Amino acid sequence: MRSTFPVFDPASPQAESIRDLFVDVLFVSAGIFVIVAGLIVVALYRYRSHERIPSQDFGSHKRELAWMVGPVIIVLWIGAISAKLILTLNALPTHYAQAGETTSENQVDVIVTGHQWWWEVEYVGTGIRSANEIHIPTGKRLRVELRSDDVIHCFWVAQLTRKMDAIPGMSNYVWLEANAPGVYQGRCAEYCGTQHAWMNFLVIAHPQEEFEAWVDRESGSVEAPTEELAVAGQELFMKLTCSQCHAISGTIAKEDFAPDLTHFASRKEIGAGAIANNSKNLRTWLENPQAIKPGCKMPNFKLRDDQLDQLTAYLETLK
Ligand code: CUA
Repeated sequence: MRSTFPVFDPASPQAESIRDLFVDVLFVSAGIFVIVAGLIVVALYRYRSHERIPSQDFGSHKRELAWMVGPVIIVLWIGAISAKLILTLNALPTHYAQAGETTSENQVDVIVTGHQWWWEVEYVGTGIRSANEIHIPTGKRLRVELRSDDVIHCFWVAQLTRKMDAIPGMSNYVWLEANAPGVYQGRCAEYCGTQHAWMNFLVIAHPQEEFEAWVDRESGSVEAPTEELAVAGQELFMKLTCSQCHAISGTIAKEDFAPDLTHFASRKEIGAGAIANNSKNLRTWLENPQAIKPGCKMPNFKLRDDQLDQLTAYLETLK
């Protein structure tokens, strides 16, 4: 369901209204362009020789008025429909209004924090932490609080919601919802440093029951590995510097400087969209993250081949 022209392929009521506004403005602009360009072409053709000069008509009040009032009306109209759209996008959904909520800040379902260059995702009240993937139930509007840990990022899922900046020191809010189950591409839409282009994320919409099953699975710790290679990998993970940046629930690794890896193996991508998550790519990433995502905060640890095999085996158990 990842679309080539996501703005024209909306998958939520919000994105549909955004598309409608875009199409309206596009048609009006196209009309203006055709009229202006047409008049220029006609004038160029009719007065192409020096002998023919157009009649000189200065100070016509009627015409002056027409081309001042016309554009003012168009600009006011565009301003009005844009303002109306913003009010629609900010409106509280009915289930919030029924619960007696008065302001949209009262209840937050998911906190998303931008980091150079990945997204931290926290599900309020569930203890679930993840990265670069946001799972939502289909057909329900979730309140997303946006924060940033370093510079200004911009949260954008073109098929689902509008752009919203994630700004250090303050919170912004958007509603996230999808009409149908599927995988929707999210991106950082504000230049935020070297790896801005690899600051993608996925929004995965599930049917309600599937979403609940996901919450159940995700809120638990993972079982300790039993296979020899993976056990060695876990030991290595805790002994090396890995555990000083990453957290894995149920282990001594508790740091939140880098993405939470508790259910890493069930995620679809590595490095905020840089590569697909499979064992071959994971090993290549561990070997030298800088070769795949130059400038990212994970250094090349110059691990040996056997260490790479062990770590890969362990991380693959984190389903
Ligand atoms: Cu974060 Cu661009």
